Amino acid sequence: MSISIGIHDLSIATAEFVLPHTALAAYNGTDIGKYHVGIGQESMSVPAADEDIVTMGAAAAAPIIARHGKDRIRTVVFATESSIDQAKAAGVYVHSLLGLQSATRVVELKQACYGATAALQFAIGLVQRDPAQQVLVIASDVSKYELDSPGEATQGAAAVAMLVSVDPALVRIEDPSGLFTADVMDFWRPNYRDAALVDGQESIGAYLQAAEGTWKDYTEQGGRSLEEFAAFCYHQPFTKMAYKAHRHLLNYCGYDTDKDVIARDLGQTTAYNTVIGNSYTASVYLGLAALLDQADDLSGRPVAFLSYGSGSVAEFFAGTVVAGYREHLRTEENQEAISRRTPVDYAGYRALHEFKFPADGGDHATPEQTTGPFRLAGISGHKRLYQRR
Ligand code: HMG
Repeated sequence: MSISIGIHDLSIATAEFVLPHTALAAYNGTDIGKYHVGIGQESMSVPAADEDIVTMGAAAAAPIIARHGKDRIRTVVFATESSIDQAKAAGVYVHSLLGLQSATRVVELKQACYGATAALQFAIGLVQRDPAQQVLVIASDVSKYELDSPGEATQGAAAVAMLVSVDPALVRIEDPSGLFTADVMDFWRPNYRDAALVDGQESIGAYLQAAEGTWKDYTEQGGRSLEEFAAFCYHQPFTKMAYKAHRHLLNYCGYDTDKDVIARDLGQTTAYNTVIGNSYTASVYLGLAALLDQADDLSGRPVAFLSYGSGSVAEFFAGTVVAGYREHLRTEENQEAISRRTPVDYAGYRALHEFKFPADGGDHATPEQTTGPFRLAGISGHKRLYQRR
Protein backbone atom coordinates (compact mmCIF):
# COMPACT_ATOMS: atom_id res chain seq x y z
CA MET A 1 0.00 0.00 0.00
CA SER A 2 1.42 3.40 -0.92
CA ILE A 3 1.89 5.92 1.88
CA SER A 4 0.94 9.57 1.72
CA ILE A 5 4.01 11.86 1.52
CA GLY A 6 4.27 15.55 0.78
CA ILE A 7 4.59 19.09 2.12
CA HIS A 8 3.84 19.17 5.83
CA ASP A 9 4.80 22.82 6.40
CA LEU A 10 5.89 25.70 4.19
CA SER A 11 7.39 29.06 5.15
CA ILE A 12 8.79 31.93 3.08
CA ALA A 13 11.38 34.66 3.58
CA THR A 14 12.63 37.43 1.37
CA ALA A 15 15.15 40.27 1.47
CA GLU A 16 15.41 43.49 3.49
CA PHE A 17 14.85 45.95 0.64
CA VAL A 18 12.41 46.40 -2.23
CA LEU A 19 12.80 48.39 -5.44
CA PRO A 20 9.51 49.36 -7.08
CA HIS A 21 9.52 49.01 -10.86
CA THR A 22 8.36 52.63 -11.07
CA ALA A 23 11.84 53.63 -9.81
CA LEU A 24 13.57 51.46 -12.42
CA ALA A 25 11.29 52.80 -15.17
CA ALA A 26 11.92 56.40 -14.10
CA TYR A 27 15.68 55.77 -14.27
CA ASN A 28 15.81 54.01 -17.65
CA GLY A 29 12.90 55.74 -19.39
CA THR A 30 10.84 52.58 -19.90
CA ASP A 31 7.06 52.89 -20.12
CA ILE A 32 5.84 51.44 -16.82
CA GLY A 33 3.21 49.45 -18.76
CA LYS A 34 6.01 47.20 -20.02
CA TYR A 35 6.86 46.20 -16.44
CA HIS A 36 3.41 46.17 -14.88
CA VAL A 37 1.56 44.59 -17.81
CA GLY A 38 4.18 43.34 -20.31
CA ILE A 39 6.14 41.22 -17.82
CA GLY A 40 3.69 41.43 -14.89
CA GLN A 41 6.07 42.74 -12.22
CA GLU A 42 5.46 45.48 -9.64
CA SER A 43 8.63 45.39 -7.55
CA MET A 44 11.70 43.30 -6.75
CA SER A 45 13.31 42.22 -3.49
CA VAL A 46 16.88 43.45 -3.08
CA PRO A 47 19.15 41.80 -0.49
CA ALA A 48 21.01 43.93 2.03
CA ALA A 49 24.81 43.74 2.01
CA ASP A 50 24.60 41.38 5.00
CA GLU A 51 22.02 39.02 3.45
CA ASP A 52 22.46 36.09 1.10
CA ILE A 53 20.98 32.66 0.32
CA VAL A 54 22.01 31.37 3.77
CA THR A 55 20.40 34.16 5.80
CA MET A 56 17.18 33.96 3.76
CA GLY A 57 17.15 30.15 3.86
CA ALA A 58 17.63 30.11 7.64
CA ALA A 59 14.95 32.78 8.08
CA ALA A 60 12.48 30.68 6.05
CA ALA A 61 13.31 27.46 7.91
CA ALA A 62 13.45 28.81 11.51
CA PRO A 63 9.63 28.98 12.00
CA ILE A 64 9.34 25.37 10.77
CA ILE A 65 11.84 24.20 13.38
CA ALA A 66 10.05 26.28 16.04
CA ARG A 67 6.76 24.54 15.22
CA HIS A 68 7.88 20.95 14.61
CA GLY A 69 11.17 20.58 16.48
CA LYS A 70 14.38 19.07 15.12
CA ASP A 71 14.28 15.47 16.26
CA ARG A 72 12.90 13.87 13.10
CA ILE A 73 14.95 15.91 10.62
CA ARG A 74 17.78 13.70 9.36
CA THR A 75 18.28 15.34 5.96
CA VAL A 76 18.55 18.95 4.76
CA VAL A 77 18.55 19.54 1.02
CA PHE A 78 19.42 23.10 0.01
CA ALA A 79 18.55 23.98 -3.58
CA THR A 80 20.11 27.06 -5.13
CA GLU A 81 21.73 28.40 -8.26
CA SER A 82 23.29 31.41 -6.55
CA SER A 83 25.70 29.35 -4.51
CA ILE A 84 28.21 31.09 -2.22
CA ASP A 85 30.85 28.35 -2.25
CA GLN A 86 32.06 25.83 -4.82
CA ALA A 87 32.59 23.10 -2.24
CA LYS A 88 30.73 23.61 1.02
CA ALA A 89 26.94 23.26 0.94
CA ALA A 90 25.05 26.40 2.03
CA GLY A 91 22.79 24.10 4.04
CA VAL A 92 25.64 23.35 6.45
CA TYR A 93 25.63 27.00 7.57
CA VAL A 94 21.84 26.81 7.97
CA HIS A 95 22.19 23.56 9.93
CA SER A 96 24.50 25.39 12.33
CA LEU A 97 22.40 28.59 12.57
CA LEU A 98 19.31 26.52 13.41
CA GLY A 99 21.16 24.18 15.81
CA LEU A 100 20.05 21.01 14.00
CA GLN A 101 21.25 17.65 15.30
CA SER A 102 24.64 16.39 14.17
CA ALA A 103 23.04 13.13 12.94
CA THR A 104 21.92 14.88 9.74
CA ARG A 105 22.97 14.63 6.10
CA VAL A 106 23.18 18.01 4.38
CA VAL A 107 23.65 18.59 0.69
CA GLU A 108 23.29 21.34 -1.93
CA LEU A 109 21.53 20.69 -5.23
CA LYS A 110 21.76 22.63 -8.49
CA GLN A 111 19.96 22.70 -11.80
CA ALA A 112 18.97 26.32 -12.29
CA CYS A 113 15.43 27.07 -11.09
CA TYR A 114 14.47 23.38 -11.20
CA GLY A 115 16.70 22.43 -8.22
CA ALA A 116 14.04 22.68 -5.51
CA THR A 117 11.76 20.28 -7.34
CA ALA A 118 14.58 17.74 -7.55
CA ALA A 119 15.07 18.33 -3.80
CA LEU A 120 11.37 17.74 -3.12
CA GLN A 121 11.29 14.55 -5.17
CA PHE A 122 14.49 13.22 -3.56
CA ALA A 123 13.05 14.07 -0.14
CA ILE A 124 9.95 12.03 -0.95
CA GLY A 125 12.17 9.09 -1.88
CA LEU A 126 14.03 9.35 1.45
CA VAL A 127 10.81 9.54 3.46
CA GLN A 128 9.46 6.53 1.56
CA ARG A 129 12.54 4.56 2.65
CA ASP A 130 12.32 5.74 6.25
CA PRO A 131 8.81 7.07 7.03
CA ALA A 132 9.90 8.16 10.52
CA GLN A 133 12.21 10.87 9.15
CA GLN A 134 11.35 14.36 7.98
CA VAL A 135 13.36 16.14 5.31
CA LEU A 136 13.93 19.88 5.36
CA VAL A 137 13.98 21.25 1.82
CA ILE A 138 15.21 24.82 1.39
CA ALA A 139 15.08 26.74 -1.89
CA SER A 140 16.93 30.05 -1.70
CA ASP A 141 18.18 32.33 -4.45
CA VAL A 142 19.25 35.82 -5.38
CA SER A 143 18.48 36.57 -9.01
CA LYS A 144 21.00 38.99 -10.44
CA TYR A 145 21.42 40.25 -13.99
CA GLU A 146 23.69 42.96 -15.41
CA LEU A 147 22.63 46.54 -14.67
CA ASP A 148 20.88 48.13 -17.65
CA SER A 149 20.20 44.74 -19.29
CA PRO A 150 16.72 43.46 -20.27
CA GLY A 151 16.93 40.87 -17.49
CA GLU A 152 17.39 43.58 -14.81
CA ALA A 153 13.62 44.07 -14.44
CA THR A 154 13.20 40.38 -13.58
CA GLN A 155 15.58 40.25 -10.60
CA GLY A 156 14.45 39.29 -7.10
CA ALA A 157 15.37 37.27 -4.02
CA ALA A 158 13.56 34.87 -1.70
CA ALA A 159 13.64 31.55 0.09
CA VAL A 160 11.03 28.89 0.69
CA ALA A 161 11.48 26.17 3.30
CA MET A 162 9.35 23.00 3.21
CA LEU A 163 9.13 20.15 5.64
CA VAL A 164 8.56 16.88 3.78
CA SER A 165 6.99 14.03 5.73
CA VAL A 166 4.42 11.24 5.78
CA ASP A 167 0.80 12.30 6.34
CA PRO A 168 1.48 15.89 5.26
CA ALA A 169 -0.74 18.67 6.57
CA LEU A 170 -0.66 20.76 3.38
CA VAL A 171 -0.12 18.98 0.06
CA ARG A 172 0.21 15.27 -0.80
CA ILE A 173 2.58 14.90 -3.76
CA GLU A 174 1.42 12.39 -6.38
CA ASP A 175 2.94 10.09 -8.94
CA PRO A 176 3.55 10.21 -11.84
CA SER A 177 5.81 13.06 -12.91
CA GLY A 178 6.30 14.22 -16.47
CA LEU A 179 9.99 14.84 -17.17
CA PHE A 180 11.92 16.76 -19.83
CA THR A 181 15.61 17.57 -20.37
CA ALA A 182 17.21 19.37 -23.33
CA ASP A 183 20.73 20.79 -23.65
CA VAL A 184 20.06 24.47 -24.45
CA MET A 185 21.98 27.67 -23.69
CA ASP A 186 19.08 29.91 -22.77
CA PHE A 187 20.40 31.10 -19.39
CA TRP A 188 23.61 30.22 -17.57
CA ARG A 189 26.21 31.65 -15.17
CA PRO A 190 29.84 30.60 -15.59
CA ASN A 191 31.76 30.28 -12.31
CA TYR A 192 33.70 33.51 -12.88
CA ARG A 193 30.52 35.58 -13.13
CA ASP A 194 28.26 37.12 -10.55
CA ALA A 195 25.40 37.94 -12.88
CA ALA A 196 23.66 35.46 -15.17
CA LEU A 197 23.95 35.47 -18.95
CA VAL A 198 20.71 35.05 -20.82
CA ASP A 199 19.23 34.88 -24.28
CA GLY A 200 15.83 36.25 -23.28
CA GLN A 201 13.70 35.25 -26.26
CA GLU A 202 15.44 31.86 -26.56
CA SER A 203 14.74 31.26 -22.85
CA ILE A 204 11.01 31.90 -23.28
CA GLY A 205 10.90 29.44 -26.21
CA ALA A 206 12.93 26.87 -24.26
CA TYR A 207 10.51 27.15 -21.30
CA LEU A 208 7.48 26.62 -23.57
CA GLN A 209 9.13 23.61 -25.25
CA ALA A 210 9.86 22.13 -21.85
CA ALA A 211 6.29 22.72 -20.65
CA GLU A 212 5.02 20.82 -23.67
CA GLY A 213 7.62 18.07 -23.21
CA THR A 214 6.77 17.48 -19.55
CA TRP A 215 3.05 17.45 -20.27
CA LYS A 216 3.51 14.89 -23.06
CA ASP A 217 5.48 12.62 -20.72
CA TYR A 218 3.03 13.21 -17.86
CA THR A 219 0.10 12.00 -19.97
CA GLU A 220 2.12 9.04 -21.28
CA GLN A 221 2.84 8.09 -17.66
CA GLY A 222 -0.91 8.04 -16.94
CA GLY A 223 -1.31 11.44 -15.23
CA ARG A 224 -4.50 13.42 -14.70
CA SER A 225 -6.22 15.33 -17.46
CA LEU A 226 -5.80 19.09 -17.59
CA GLU A 227 -9.36 19.96 -16.58
CA GLU A 228 -9.06 18.09 -13.27
CA PHE A 229 -6.72 20.72 -11.78
CA ALA A 230 -8.06 23.44 -9.47
CA ALA A 231 -4.99 25.62 -10.13
CA PHE A 232 -1.57 25.62 -11.83
CA CYS A 233 1.64 26.67 -10.09
CA TYR A 234 4.23 27.55 -12.74
CA HIS A 235 7.82 28.62 -12.33
CA GLN A 236 7.54 32.42 -12.56
CA PRO A 237 10.73 34.19 -13.74
CA PHE A 238 8.24 37.05 -14.25
CA THR A 239 4.56 36.44 -13.70
CA LYS A 240 3.57 36.96 -17.35
CA MET A 241 5.64 33.85 -18.18
CA ALA A 242 3.15 31.69 -16.27
CA TYR A 243 0.38 33.07 -18.48
CA LYS A 244 2.39 32.37 -21.62
CA ALA A 245 3.11 28.80 -20.48
CA HIS A 246 -0.48 28.06 -19.55
CA ARG A 247 -1.79 29.42 -22.83
CA HIS A 248 0.75 27.24 -24.64
CA LEU A 249 -0.32 24.14 -22.72
CA LEU A 250 -4.04 24.78 -23.24
CA ASN A 251 -3.41 25.32 -26.94
CA TYR A 252 -1.33 22.17 -27.19
CA CYS A 253 -4.15 20.19 -25.56
CA GLY A 254 -6.75 21.75 -27.87
CA TYR A 255 -8.52 23.80 -25.18
CA ASP A 256 -9.92 27.30 -25.31
CA THR A 257 -7.30 29.90 -24.36
CA ASP A 258 -9.77 32.47 -23.12
CA LYS A 259 -7.96 34.94 -20.86
CA ASP A 260 -10.57 34.60 -18.10
CA VAL A 261 -9.93 30.84 -18.00
CA ILE A 262 -6.18 31.42 -17.77
CA ALA A 263 -6.64 34.03 -15.03
CA ARG A 264 -8.91 31.65 -13.11
CA ASP A 265 -6.35 28.83 -13.37
CA LEU A 266 -3.36 30.81 -12.14
CA GLY A 267 -4.34 34.27 -10.95
CA GLN A 268 -3.96 33.35 -7.30
CA THR A 269 -0.47 31.93 -7.73
CA THR A 270 1.19 35.19 -8.80
CA ALA A 271 0.61 37.56 -5.85
CA TYR A 272 3.95 36.94 -4.11
CA ASN A 273 6.09 36.60 -7.24
CA THR A 274 4.79 39.84 -8.74
CA VAL A 275 6.19 41.87 -5.81
CA ILE A 276 9.28 39.72 -5.06
CA GLY A 277 10.61 39.09 -8.58
CA ASN A 278 12.42 36.00 -9.77
CA SER A 279 13.57 33.86 -6.87
CA TYR A 280 14.74 31.03 -9.14
CA THR A 281 14.41 27.75 -7.15
CA ALA A 282 11.88 29.27 -4.74
CA SER A 283 9.63 30.75 -7.42
CA VAL A 284 7.24 27.85 -8.09
CA TYR A 285 6.80 27.25 -4.34
CA LEU A 286 6.13 30.96 -3.71
CA GLY A 287 3.37 30.39 -6.26
CA LEU A 288 2.03 27.54 -4.10
CA ALA A 289 2.28 29.67 -0.94
CA ALA A 290 0.31 32.50 -2.57
CA LEU A 291 -2.32 30.05 -3.81
CA LEU A 292 -2.83 28.35 -0.45
CA ASP A 293 -2.83 31.67 1.40
CA GLN A 294 -5.45 33.28 -0.85
CA ALA A 295 -7.68 30.75 -2.57
CA ASP A 296 -11.08 29.59 -1.35
CA ASP A 297 -10.96 26.17 0.32
CA LEU A 298 -8.93 23.80 -1.88
CA SER A 299 -9.31 20.73 0.38
CA GLY A 300 -9.11 17.55 -1.68
CA ARG A 301 -8.43 19.44 -4.94
CA PRO A 302 -5.50 18.59 -7.21
CA VAL A 303 -3.02 21.35 -8.05
CA ALA A 304 -0.55 21.16 -10.95
CA PHE A 305 3.12 22.15 -10.72
CA LEU A 306 5.38 23.03 -13.63
CA SER A 307 8.96 23.47 -12.52
CA TYR A 308 11.43 24.76 -15.15
CA GLY A 309 15.17 25.30 -14.84
CA SER A 310 17.15 26.76 -17.71
CA GLY A 311 19.69 24.64 -19.41
CA SER A 312 17.17 22.87 -19.26
CA VAL A 313 15.32 20.43 -17.00
CA ALA A 314 11.59 20.52 -16.24
CA GLU A 315 9.01 18.48 -14.38
CA PHE A 316 5.20 18.48 -14.37
CA PHE A 317 3.54 16.85 -11.37
CA ALA A 318 0.45 17.05 -9.21
CA GLY A 319 -0.31 17.48 -5.54
CA THR A 320 -3.59 17.12 -3.70
CA VAL A 321 -4.40 19.71 -1.08
CA VAL A 322 -5.06 18.04 2.27
CA ALA A 323 -8.35 18.62 4.12
CA GLY A 324 -7.85 20.98 7.08
CA TYR A 325 -4.71 22.54 5.51
CA ARG A 326 -5.85 26.08 6.32
CA GLU A 327 -5.16 25.59 10.02
CA HIS A 328 -1.48 25.00 9.20
CA LEU A 329 -0.83 27.94 6.88
CA ARG A 330 1.44 30.88 7.71
CA THR A 331 -0.49 33.48 5.76
CA GLU A 332 0.16 36.36 8.16
CA GLU A 333 3.89 35.65 8.51
CA ASN A 334 4.25 35.20 4.75
CA GLN A 335 2.55 38.52 4.07
CA GLU A 336 4.59 40.19 6.80
CA ALA A 337 7.84 38.92 5.21
CA ILE A 338 6.83 40.87 2.10
CA SER A 339 5.31 43.98 3.65
CA ARG A 340 8.16 44.55 6.13
CA ARG A 341 10.66 45.28 3.34
CA THR A 342 12.09 48.80 3.21
CA PRO A 343 11.76 50.61 -0.13
CA VAL A 344 15.12 51.57 -1.61
CA ASP A 345 15.65 54.25 -4.24
CA TYR A 346 17.38 53.60 -7.54
CA ALA A 347 20.80 54.86 -6.35
CA GLY A 348 20.58 52.71 -3.21
CA TYR A 349 19.66 49.64 -5.27
CA ARG A 350 22.57 50.26 -7.65
CA ALA A 351 25.03 50.48 -4.76
CA LEU A 352 23.72 47.18 -3.35
CA HIS A 353 23.92 45.57 -6.80
CA GLU A 354 27.57 46.54 -7.05
CA PHE A 355 28.48 45.53 -3.46
CA LYS A 356 31.16 42.83 -3.46
CA PHE A 357 33.70 41.49 -0.99
CA PRO A 358 37.29 41.98 -2.17
CA ALA A 359 38.66 38.63 -3.36
CA ASP A 360 41.66 38.91 -0.99
CA GLY A 361 39.85 36.92 1.73
CA GLY A 362 41.03 39.37 4.41
CA ASP A 363 38.93 40.72 7.27
CA HIS A 364 35.91 42.50 5.86
CA ALA A 365 32.86 43.37 7.94
CA THR A 366 29.53 43.96 6.22
CA PRO A 367 27.50 47.07 7.00
CA GLU A 368 24.74 46.22 9.47
CA GLN A 369 21.63 46.60 7.30
CA THR A 370 19.29 43.65 7.68
CA THR A 371 16.60 43.60 10.34
CA GLY A 372 16.00 39.89 9.66
CA PRO A 373 16.84 37.11 12.13
CA PHE A 374 20.22 36.16 10.58
CA ARG A 375 23.05 38.12 9.02
CA LEU A 376 26.31 37.65 7.21
CA ALA A 377 28.64 39.59 9.52
CA GLY A 378 31.58 39.52 7.14
CA ILE A 379 34.44 37.49 5.79
CA SER A 380 37.66 36.63 7.54
CA GLY A 381 40.43 34.41 6.22
CA HIS A 382 38.16 33.52 3.25
CA LYS A 383 35.53 32.24 5.74
CA ARG A 384 31.95 33.54 5.81
CA LEU A 385 30.84 34.55 9.30
CA TYR A 386 27.14 34.28 10.04
CA GLN A 387 25.26 35.49 13.13
CA ARG A 388 21.82 35.17 14.62
CA ARG A 389 20.65 38.72 15.36
P1 HMG B 1 12.62 42.70 -23.27
O1 HMG B 1 13.32 42.58 -24.59
O2 HMG B 1 13.07 43.80 -22.37
O3 HMG B 1 11.07 42.89 -23.40
O4 HMG B 1 12.82 41.31 -22.55
P2 HMG B 1 10.07 42.66 -24.64
O5 HMG B 1 10.32 43.68 -25.67
O6 HMG B 1 10.09 41.20 -25.04
O7 HMG B 1 8.72 43.03 -23.89
C1 HMG B 1 8.22 42.23 -22.88
C2 HMG B 1 6.70 42.25 -22.96
O8 HMG B 1 6.22 43.55 -22.62
C3 HMG B 1 6.16 41.97 -24.37
O9 HMG B 1 4.98 41.22 -24.23
C4 HMG B 1 5.82 43.37 -24.89
O10 HMG B 1 4.82 43.38 -25.91
C5 HMG B 1 5.31 44.00 -23.62
P3 HMG B 1 4.81 39.78 -24.97
O11 HMG B 1 4.93 40.05 -26.41
O12 HMG B 1 5.95 38.94 -24.47
O13 HMG B 1 3.48 39.32 -24.51
N1 HMG B 1 5.35 45.47 -23.61
C6 HMG B 1 4.38 46.23 -23.08
N2 HMG B 1 3.19 45.92 -22.52
C7 HMG B 1 2.42 46.96 -22.07
N3 HMG B 1 2.77 48.25 -22.17
C8 HMG B 1 3.93 48.61 -22.74
C9 HMG B 1 4.80 47.58 -23.23
N4 HMG B 1 6.01 47.57 -23.82
C10 HMG B 1 6.33 46.28 -24.06
N5 HMG B 1 4.28 49.90 -22.82
C11 HMG B 1 12.66 39.40 -21.19
C12 HMG B 1 11.92 40.61 -21.74
C13 HMG B 1 11.71 38.58 -20.35
C14 HMG B 1 13.19 38.54 -22.34
C15 HMG B 1 13.84 39.92 -20.32
O14 HMG B 1 13.34 40.56 -19.18
C16 HMG B 1 14.81 38.84 -19.89
O15 HMG B 1 15.74 38.52 -20.59
N6 HMG B 1 14.58 38.24 -18.68
C17 HMG B 1 15.42 37.19 -18.12
C18 HMG B 1 15.17 35.84 -18.76
C19 HMG B 1 13.85 35.21 -18.37
O16 HMG B 1 13.26 35.57 -17.36
N7 HMG B 1 13.39 34.20 -19.15
C20 HMG B 1 12.19 33.49 -18.83
C21 HMG B 1 12.20 32.04 -19.30
S1 HMG B 1 13.67 31.17 -18.73
C22 HMG B 1 13.34 30.81 -17.05
O17 HMG B 1 12.24 30.92 -16.61
C23 HMG B 1 14.50 30.37 -16.23
C24 HMG B 1 15.08 31.41 -15.30
O18 HMG B 1 14.23 31.62 -14.20
C25 HMG B 1 16.46 30.97 -14.83
C26 HMG B 1 16.67 29.58 -14.30
O19 HMG B 1 16.03 28.61 -14.63
O20 HMG B 1 17.63 29.45 -13.55
C27 HMG B 1 15.28 32.75 -15.99
